[in-house]
Amino acid sequence: MPLKFVSYISSQSRVMTKQSIEDFLFQVRDKNKHLAITGILLLIQGKFVQYIEGPAEEIDKVYESISKDKRHTEMIMLDSGSLTERQFKDWSMAYKEVDDKQIKEIVGKEDLHLEDVFLNDKDIKNHPVLTVLYDFVKTLSS
Ligand SMILES: Cc1cc2nc3c(=O)[nH]c(=O)nc-3n(C[C@H](O)[C@H](O)[C@H](O)COP(=O)(O)O)c2cc1C
Repeated sequence: MPLKFVSYISSQSRVMTKQSIEDFLFQVRDKNKHLAITGILLLIQGKFVQYIEGPAEEIDKVYESISKDKRHTEMIMLDSGSLTERQFKDWSMAYKEVDDKQIKEIVGKEDLHLEDVFLNDKDIKNHPVLTVLYDFVKTLSS
């Protein structure tokens, strides 16, 4: 079965409590383990940025159900493609809430103006959010 990855950005519908995030992650990790899906989910200033990878068929199905999930809106696919090797072998879903201080350290400014992403998708690959995502990818996979 060929491997595939997808990444997207979305807006959280409402603030989730610590407990509801824990419950949500428990469910997601359980299902991902079952389907051999791995990846990372970041929560940055009310936006989710997620990268998932796994068997192409499962990724398509899970992406479809994620896109219908009421816990977020304004979902925009950032990138997708085939993979020869996983980036997140050991993570059924790594999760990180990125605070303003970390954003500043990584991209050099406090406010990312994430809304810009929705207006300017030509530049999507150079957007600071992806810089943050790939920074974590590198940290976790090195
Ligand atoms: C931001 C976000 C990320 C999610 N990530 C995953 C995921 O990586 N894997 C997954 O199975 N479900 C994920 N979900 C949950 C799905 O939208 C959906 O609720 C779940 O797959 C339904 O599983 P079920 O039909 O087996 O109950 C995510 C939801 C949100 C809001």
